[in-house]
Amino acid sequence: MLLGVNIDHIAVLREARKINDPNPVDALSICKLSGADQITIHLREDRRHIHDNDAKIICKQSTLPINLECSINSDIINIVCKMKPARVTLVPENREEVTTEGGLDVKGNFEKLQNVIKKLHDNEIEVSLFIDPNKEVIELSAHLNVEWIELHTGSFANVYAMLNSQLGNTHHTIKELELPRKELKKKLKSSIKELKKASKFATKQKLKVAAGHGLNYQNVTLISSIKHISELNIGQSIIARSVFTGLENAILDMKELIE
Ligand code: PXP
Repeated sequence: MLLGVNIDHIAVLREARKINDPNPVDALSICKLSGADQITIHLREDRRHIHDNDAKIICKQSTLPINLECSINSDIINIVCKMKPARVTLVPENREEVTTEGGLDVKGNFEKLQNVIKKLHDNEIEVSLFIDPNKEVIELSAHLNVEWIELHTGSFANVYAMLNSQLGNTHHTIKELELPRKELKKKLKSSIKELKKASKFATKQKLKVAAGHGLNYQNVTLISSIKHISELNIGQSIIARSVFTGLENAILDMKELIE
């Protein structure tokens, strides 16, 4: 099981003051030394955290492979092709969202995705699609000849957080909040089953399977034990813990849980 560390939130902290401290580039060597297998960054259309220059330097200087997340917008695809990350993960993007809310609409964007994926492959960049754990979407992804899919673990993480009182008081919009405990337990079980089934099916389709979103020190072992998932991309919980323990310890702790 590989660990990709998403370092966007280092840039979020920098943007709070619009200065150059902390610099996400400084995380590269710490991630490498602490045993991370990959660096993940999201170059958003609104550039709310990672900027073009960060992405450019990170792609150039990192000794770990870079997994660059972005939308399927052609302007951004043209930019990332020049940066030559090892992999691009295509994600849905909505300006109003706090974070990526759901999987890509692969069916609705099929033709556009064919063009975008060809362009990325022509530039020798592997492609991953961030999708919900759904059989039809996995089949469509396989038809698009991508190397990877990344399964969205957000629903699982929300239900887990509800059951374990991990949600703050800002999550008014999560519909699971209204469910009784018994229902939540059932939902948690079924979301894990869904991820297991989806990852097994994807592996049969010759896709490599990553997973991510909302994974943390409490819930990660439920996902890291799924046989057909080979990589986890984790950001918020690692960077949050690093405020108290340092980035190195935060990554080491996560690696230990995963292993
Ligand atoms: N994977 C993808 C595709 C994402 O968009 C994100 C959030 O940027 C993550 C993983 C990491 O999610 P989190 O910050 O909740 O760990």
